[in-house]
Amino acid sequence: MEEQGGAGGVRLDPWGTLEVKDYDRLRRVFGIRSFSEVIPALRELGFEPSLHMRRGILFGHRDFDRVVVEGLRRGEPVAVLTGFMPSGRFHFGHKLTADQLIYYQRVLGLRVFVALADAEAFAVRRIPRREAIRLGVEEYVANLIALGLDPDKTVFYFQTNRGAPYYRLIQLASGRVTAAEMEAIYGDLTPAKVVSALTQVADILHPQLDEYGGYKRVLVPVGVDQDPHLRLTRDIVDRLSGVVELMRPASTYHKLIRGLDGGKMSSSRPDYTIFLTDPPSEARRKLMRALTGGRATAEEQRRLGGVPEACTVYDLYLYHLLPDDSELLRVYRDCRGGVILCGECKRFAAERLLEFLERHQERLAEARETAWSIVEPPSF
Ligand code: TRP
Ligand code: SF4
Repeated sequence: MEEQGGAGGVRLDPWGTLEVKDYDRLRRVFGIRSFSEVIPALRELGFEPSLHMRRGILFGHRDFDRVVVEGLRRGEPVAVLTGFMPSGRFHFGHKLTADQLIYYQRVLGLRVFVALADAEAFAVRRIPRREAIRLGVEEYVANLIALGLDPDKTVFYFQTNRGAPYYRLIQLASGRVTAAEMEAIYGDLTPAKVVSALTQVADILHPQLDEYGGYKRVLVPVGVDQDPHLRLTRDIVDRLSGVVELMRPASTYHKLIRGLDGGKMSSSRPDYTIFLTDPPSEARRKLMRALTGGRATAEEQRRLGGVPEACTVYDLYLYHLLPDDSELLRVYRDCRGGVILCGECKRFAAERLLEFLERHQERLAEARETAWSIVEPPSF
């Protein structure tokens, strides 16, 4: 997290390398509300919270109550939209967002939109167009389908292919914000970043247009590094009043899963990132070298216990590998109590991981074919 400018001396950089130590502080500084406060309302409506909700991985929201809960209560249509930048392979950080989309589709019955941010990948990351398109379909759409997102009930689109009303929104938005305001939100900007930010505003708002379904209530689940885009979008919604009537979107924020060395999980750090297409032997090799919360010697670990909070293997259990809360609790206690040592624990994690990867990769071949048949790739 960059400690300069912005609210209270903290600024989030959606294109940077974010490492957050203190999520409560982040919430306070940016006025993000705690997600746990809306869980009872979901339960009242008869919905079990998702794994990420009950484990506090979804730690914050804006207007989830006003937009989503209220929409469900009144029986009004609600959409969920998020985006992926096709600049690298699909990894366990992306799976965290995927699992949320699947929950919203299956459990809450929301309409799902997925933006493939090829415009952003080209402008900001300099990914060649052909490559962004291939990654968008074969990595993002295919993995999302293989994980369980229903292709018949999901709208996948490339930013550069989305059509006139969507592009009109970008122009309208550009006239409702000043350069100084954007710099206050993002810090130093380039034209590529300005265009990418305004394109993301159009991603977030366009499901509200009649041409795209007229969903007034839109939820945007993202990693907290994307919050600057949501703050910008909310301001622009207010200022477009009288030109186009739009509703401020709701958003939720998840904690960012760490890489296997405790740093950022990112496609640009393949040794510390597990991809859903990793050959199982390679995934195991990465996992066996992961940073744990273990002690220097076995004797010390038996005596003092390990520190799951500091362990990247525990992160994998928490976020992905142990959906059963009682199994998770057992690992937590055995670790804390010095009952298990890291070598044994990693072998158990590797078993779960390989089981998942093998099943997932079996589904992937077919999902790739489906992917090419349901998204229209941009023609240039
Ligand atoms: N900027 C996002 C990223 O870096 C991708 C993205 C594009 C997005 N459009 C979006 C995310 C709309 C949420 C909503 O991954
Ligand atoms: Fe991590 Fe397991 Fe070691 Fe505990 S015992 S620190 S959870 S690897």
